[in-house]
Amino acid sequence: MERQADGVDGADGTAAGTTGARPRVVLGVGGGIAAYKSCELLRRLTESGHDVTVVPTESALNFVGAATWSALSGHPVATGVWTGVHEVPHVRIGQHADLVVVAPATADLLARAAHGLADDLLTNTLLTARCPVVFAPAMHTEMWEHPATQENVATLRRRGAVVVEPAVGRLTGVDTGKGRLPEPAEIFEVCRRVLARGGLSRDLAGRHVVVSAGGTREPLDPVRFLGNRSSGKQGYALARTAVARGARVTLVAANTALPDPAGADVVRVGSAEQLRDAVLAAARDADAVVMAAAVADFRPSHYTDMKIKKRDGQGPEPIRLAENPDILAGLSADRPHPGLVVVGFAAETDDVLANGRKKLARKGCDLLVVNEVGEGTAFGTDDNAAVVLGADGSETEVPYGPKEALAETVWDLVSVRLGGAPRTG
Ligand code: C5P
Repeated sequence: MERQADGVDGADGTAAGTTGARPRVVLGVGGGIAAYKSCELLRRLTESGHDVTVVPTESALNFVGAATWSALSGHPVATGVWTGVHEVPHVRIGQHADLVVVAPATADLLARAAHGLADDLLTNTLLTARCPVVFAPAMHTEMWEHPATQENVATLRRRGAVVVEPAVGRLTGVDTGKGRLPEPAEIFEVCRRVLARGGLSRDLAGRHVVVSAGGTREPLDPVRFLGNRSSGKQGYALARTAVARGARVTLVAANTALPDPAGADVVRVGSAEQLRDAVLAAARDADAVVMAAAVADFRPSHYTDMKIKKRDGQGPEPIRLAENPDILAGLSADRPHPGLVVVGFAAETDDVLANGRKKLARKGCDLLVVNEVGEGTAFGTDDNAAVVLGADGSETEVPYGPKEALAETVWDLVSVRLGGAPRTG
């Protein structure tokens, strides 16, 4: 795995390896209409320095022909095990891969992979691969939700594969719903992260984690609200990194304008009360909840159905506020099950560590990520620095750097606290 780690530059997605070897990626393509989107994924992988071998299924070629895959990858393309037999491709391709990504993964392909069938070159490759495997499913909602598919997905995740959740949106024909292939740029991002972490990437496999992101808006009248400056970038980084580590991720996003991270179930909310309902619902079967959202402490106590008007000569009407529920403190005190790990964030402007310790005790969570905020720091930026305080007295300093790096540290600490095998039931 040395070559993988060297070959992938974490910052810009290029794979300019110091050893000169290019990370080898197998792009498996299933027979779904979304196969055309994988051309874009292939282009991103090759342009960022990866050596990509495309292994389509026979039915995938009905959507995009072998000539396209071959021209874009610069390698010959085969679907069966009888082409180039002297090179034993059904074994070699998988053995030599640093990453296998299957996009789109159809219901049939997921089933064949889960049951260990080896009836074409791609399923042979999946059986011989010892590297991380990413599946990006795409199918109609009914097929995705069918218990057979869900059980196959659970089996693959249990074995350590990263199965990203399909996106919600327009499907083939007039249908809309869950089942869309996530955007190629987002699948690429998952691949890049999984490659960068090599063998360590799947320590959250079989886990369900909930992340809140963004900032709540507390409505005052139909056009006005009380809000805050949170961009959601830290929460999205937490969601992306957890997907790459194999977790099923529910991202509760409050008023963000960021692209959905591939593989996360995104629940959109507006106010603190909506965020609380969504987080508590998702927390029931979760292993960890990370509250990165900036939740308004107060909301206008009265919502006016009509736009509040200027009052001639009387000045503005005062706005009365009511206190919002403290979701983090409530969840920490009243956990749906004792194994749930709860993580909070705290932005402090002064006496950061002392205030952080007090807040950790007050909130009752297991970990509190404390960062110093001020003009131009933390909010809306791509970088962050923090200290992660543990209820066990631990202190983990995270130097100034990308929000992804802080996210990885948070998951490292969560992973230790989860310990052992995934919870069942
Ligand atoms: O008290 P403070 O707002 O600094 O706490 C921040 C942490 O508490 C964050 O994790 C935030 O998501 C959470 N929080 C909450 N409910 C609130 C206010 C903050 O869960 N009403």
